[in-house]
Order: sequence, then structure tokens, then C-alpha cells
Amino acid sequence: MKISIVGSGNVATNLAINLKDAGHRIIQIAGTNAAGITSLAYRVNATAVNELQPIDTSIDLLLLCVKDQALEQVANALPKSDTLVVHTSGSVAIDVLNKFRNHGVFYPLQTFSKEHVTSLNQVPFCIEANTKTNEDLLLNLAHELGAKHLIINSQQRKQCHVAAVFANNFSNHMYAIAESILQKENIPFEVLRPLIQETVRKIEFLSPKDAQTGPARRNDKAVMADHLNQLKSDKLEKIYRFVSESIASYYTLK
Ligand SMILES: NC(=O)c1ccc[n+]([C@@H]2O[C@H](COP(=O)([O-])OP(=O)(O)OC[C@H]3O[C@@H](n4cnc5c(N)ncnc54)[C@H](OP(=O)(O)O)[C@@H]3O)[C@@H](O)[C@H]2O)c1
Repeated sequence: MKISIVGSGNVATNLAINLKDAGHRIIQIAGTNAAGITSLAYRVNATAVNELQPIDTSIDLLLLCVKDQALEQVANALPKSDTLVVHTSGSVAIDVLNKFRNHGVFYPLQTFSKEHVTSLNQVPFCIEANTKTNEDLLLNLAHELGAKHLIINSQQRKQCHVAAVFANNFSNHMYAIAESILQKENIPFEVLRPLIQETVRKIEFLSPKDAQTGPARRNDKAVMADHLNQLKSDKLEKIYRFVSESIASYYTLK
């Protein structure tokens, strides 16, 4: 397929490279960040386009990989055409692309950083489209990338996105806090890697609810009070208390 992309950030980079590797032709990389689009266009042998209006619409698919708040503005700025236009957001409804005769959503339920290009193998793509033909095209595209798919509506996708924020963004923030606590004692973050890896491995076999351990799960008040004394930070104490209470109540209320 002939594919163009708006954006040169985390998702644009990971999709562009995976799509090119799967045999698709990336025609243009468009956007506002001149350095970003030039560099990504070079990597995938595409043309960099600094404005949205001159974008070539004689392609099969236009992917909008821009931040959520910019989607409406980008959609308004693009010329009308029959090209299938899709966005990659978990939280923005499909309607934002209503002006395009063929439109949809191609949301990868994965975390991406442009500095680390990762395979899309087994990644679930949440797909929504305005016609069955467009839905099938996106479904085939996901399969060609070795990915999985879920055909869900905008409301269901929003729920997936909230769940992903808990599962990925919040847990990653906890790793960052753990790293800062260890740094104060000059202990390398590496000591936690086996624990983090086992936490993830364990939930392949157990539900996260059954896999929970720790002082809050055991309701060990003495250990929790000692931890709170050691933190010496109002912000961290607040987080510790709040999350511990949430863990404890999860097992007493349900
Ligand atoms: N990162 C993830 O893990 C992930 C996973 C799944 C889905 N998503 C979704 O994918 C989309 C892109 O996320 P991302 O992480 O790739 O974001 P990102 O790294 O911040 O990149 C966003 C891109 O949009 C461009 N942009 C911003 N405003 C624009 C405008 N008004 N006109 C044209 N281009 C504009 C940015 O250019 P500048 O560099 O100039 O700002 C940048 O190239 C979002 O909808 C996000 O929710 C992200």
C-alpha cells in the first residue's frame, strides 16, 4: 500500500518503520516539526512535507499520528479526499474524522518511544472504521504487521485507554519513584529488574488480583508505618498511603 503519515513522534516512527519493513511504501511524512519529519522521512525513504495542505492524497492510507489535542486542528487543515484517513489515539472518538468520506481508527494498545523501535508482533490494534471495507483494510494491515486486532467502538476504546494508563503509565511512574528512592542510597535500579520481570511473568498465569503481595495486602500496619517514616517526603507519603489503602480495600470489600 502507499501510505503517508502526519507526525514524527513515538507512534509515527514505530508505525512508519514497521510498515516499511512489512513491504509498504511510505510516501510522505508531514508535520510541524521540520527536524523530526526530515529525519523520519530519511529513515523510511519518504518525502518530508512541512505543511499539511500540499499533502499528496493519491495514496491508500493517511495515518494521523499526532497528539490527541491536535487531531481536530490537523483534520480541519487537511484537504478533503477519498483517501482512508485514520488516527491512532486511544481517547479520541472516530467522529473527529467525519469530514473524510473514508475514515477510521488504528489504535495500537502498546507503549512506544521513538528512541526504541519495537516489533508490532502480537500487539493488539483497536480498529474502528466508517465502512466494512475500511474496517477490513485496517484488519488486514494489522495482520500483515503480525499484530492482533479488536474491533471495538470509540467508547470501548476509551475504556481500553484508561485501563492502559493504569497498567502502563502508572506502573512505570512507580518504577521511576522506586529508582529515585534507591538513588538516595546509591543502589542501582538493576536490583529491581528481576522483581519487575517476575511481576509481569506471574500475571501470565494468575489474575493480577490473585498475584498481589506486600504489606498492604497482608495488612501489616507496623511495616507500613515504618515505610512511611523512611520516605521523608510528603508527596511520596501521600502516594504510599493512597495506594496502600486502595490495595487493602480491594481485598476487604470484594
Ligand atoms: N506513545 C504511545 O505509547 C502511544 C501508544 C498508542 C497510541 N498513542 C497515540 O498516538 C498519537 C501520537 O502519540 P505519540 O506518542 O506519537 O505523540 P508524540 O511523540 O508527542 O508525537 C506527536 C506528533 O504530533 C506532532 N504534532 C503536534 N501538534 C501538531 C499539529 N498541530 N500539527 C501537526 N503535527 C502536530 C508533533 O510534532 P512536534 O514534534 O512538533 O510536537 C509530533 O510529531 C496520540 O494520539 C497518542 O494518544 C500513543
